[in-house]
Amino acid sequence: MAFHEMRDQPASNDATQRAPWWQTGVIYQIYPRSFQDSNGDGVGDLRGIAQRLPHLIELGVDALWLSPIFTSPMADFGYDIFDYTDIDPLFGTLADFDALIETAHRLGLKVILDLVPNHTSDQHPWFKESRASRQSPKRNWYIWRDPSPGGGPPNNWLSDFGGSAWAYDRQTGQYYYHAFLAAQPDLNWRSPEVRAAIYDAMRFWLRRGVDGFRVDVIWHVVKDDQFRDNPANPNFQAGNPAHHAVVPLYTADRPEVHDVIAEMRRVVDEFSSRVLIGEIYLPVERLVAYYGRDLGGVHLPFNFSLLGTRWHARTIAKLIDEYEAALPAGGWPNWVLGNHDRPRVASRVGAEQARVAAMLLLTLRGTPTIYYGDEIGMQQVAVPPDRIRDPIENTLPGLGRDGCRTPMQWDGTANAGFSPAEPWLPLSSTFREINLAGERDDDTSLYQLVRRLIRLRRSSPALLSGSYQPLLASGDLLLYARAWRRDRLLIALNLGSEPTAVTFPSHTLAGRLLVSSFGDRDDEPVLGTIHLRGDEGAVIDLSDQTILP
Ligand code: NOJ
Repeated sequence: MAFHEMRDQPASNDATQRAPWWQTGVIYQIYPRSFQDSNGDGVGDLRGIAQRLPHLIELGVDALWLSPIFTSPMADFGYDIFDYTDIDPLFGTLADFDALIETAHRLGLKVILDLVPNHTSDQHPWFKESRASRQSPKRNWYIWRDPSPGGGPPNNWLSDFGGSAWAYDRQTGQYYYHAFLAAQPDLNWRSPEVRAAIYDAMRFWLRRGVDGFRVDVIWHVVKDDQFRDNPANPNFQAGNPAHHAVVPLYTADRPEVHDVIAEMRRVVDEFSSRVLIGEIYLPVERLVAYYGRDLGGVHLPFNFSLLGTRWHARTIAKLIDEYEAALPAGGWPNWVLGNHDRPRVASRVGAEQARVAAMLLLTLRGTPTIYYGDEIGMQQVAVPPDRIRDPIENTLPGLGRDGCRTPMQWDGTANAGFSPAEPWLPLSSTFREINLAGERDDDTSLYQLVRRLIRLRRSSPALLSGSYQPLLASGDLLLYARAWRRDRLLIALNLGSEPTAVTFPSHTLAGRLLVSSFGDRDDEPVLGTIHLRGDEGAVIDLSDQTILP
C-alpha cells in the first residue's frame, strides 16, 4: 500500500455516522523506545515512528497511543517526567513531534499521548523546589508528612514497586509519598495549583493537535486526606507481590478522584473530538464508575479483564457478561489484550491461541487496543540478567516488564530492522521466524488475519456498533453473536487444541463463513453444524437468518 493511501471510511450506518472516532476505531499502542530507531543509538524515536506509519495504515488501525515521550531521567522509562511540555532528546524534538502528528493526521491517524499526572520525576523543578524547605511555596505540591510518633514512615502505605511508599528527606525531616519508585514522588492533587499546572500541560498538547490522552494510573491520583493505614489483605499469600499485603483502600480509588477526572474531562472537552482514556486496574463494578456521573468521566476506562484471565470459554464468557452488565447507560466498552506492563498475549495463551485471541479482541463490542508487535505474535522475551533494564525487577523479581518491551520485529535482517545498533533491550531469539516482512508475504499469517479482522470490522455495522449476544460457553467453545439490524454475525471460537463442533437445528443455522483464523475457509457454507479445528476461530455471516435476535 502506498504511503499516501488513506484508509476506507468505516461502514456507514446511522449509528456509526454519529459515533465518535474512538468508538469505531482501533487503537494501537506504541512503546516508543522499541518501535523504530532512526538515529542509530539503539533506542526508538519519533522520526522512527513517523517512518513506520505506513505499517499502521496497512494494518488498518485508526489511532496510535504513544507511551511517554517527555523529558525524563528515565528511571521508569518516561513515566518519571521532568518536563511535561517538552520531548526527551532521546526521542527527538518538538519539531519532530509536530512533524509526526502532521503526517499522522494527513494519513487519517489520530494521536493519543500518555499523561502522567499522578507523579513527576524527583528531578522535576517542582519537586526540587518542594523539597528545598518546609516553607517552600511548592511544599504542598507533593505529599509531605512527619515521621510517625515512634519514628519511621507516617503510616503503612506500600509502594507498588516494593517497600514503604514513604521516602525520608533528611534535609527537611519529613517523608514524601511515592506510589511507585522513590524517584517518582506523587503530586498532591488536592492542591488547586497542581491541578491547574497539569491542565495547562494538557492544553499545551491539545493545542498542538493531539487527539487525546491515556491517563496513567488515574485511579491512584487522590489519596486519603486523613492518611489512614490501609487494612491488611486477608487473601494475601506467600509469593504475592509485597504490596498486596494491604488492601489499597486509602491510597487509590478514593471517591474524590471522580471530581478530579471530571475536571480533566472538561479540559479535554474544551477541544473538539478528543478522547480521555483511563488506566485503571480495578474489579469491574469499580471500574465502570470511571465513566463518571452523566458520563462526565473518562470516555474509555481501560478494560484489562482479558489481560489476566484464565483462557477458558466459560471464564471469558462470564467476564464479558459481567462487563456488559456493569456498563452504565451510554458507556462505551473497550478491550485490551496486551500492554507494556503485562506479559505478551502470544506467550500467555500460546502462539496457536493468539489467533483466537485476536479474533476475540476484534469482534467484541467496543474499542480494541492492540499492543505493538501483538499483530505479528511477538512473544515474551526472557531477558538475561545482565540486560535487565526495568528497575522493578530488583524489588519484585520475576515481575520486571522488559520481556514485553523488546524491539519490534520488522524483518529477519540484523536487529530485526529496528536499529543499525545494538538495541537497548535484546531482541527475541525468534525474530527471524516471527517478523512483519515474513508475515506480510504469508496469507495465512497472524498479521494477515489481524488485517482481515480489522477490515471486516470497518465494513460491518454489526461489529462496529451492533449488539452483543452470548450464545454458548461450553468446554472449549465460546459462541456469541453481533447484530445490527440485518447485519448479523456469529463468532465461534475454539479455545482448545482439539477439533470441536456445535449443532443447531438445521433450519436455524444457515450461513457463510467469512473469516477462519487459519485464513482458508472463505465462503464455506455453514448449515446446522459449525465445525472448528483445534485452535480455530470463525466469523460466520448469518445476515439472512432469522433465529438470531
Ligand atoms: C503505569 C504504567 O503503565 C507503568 O509502566 C508505570 O511504571 C507506572 N504507571 C508508574 O508510572
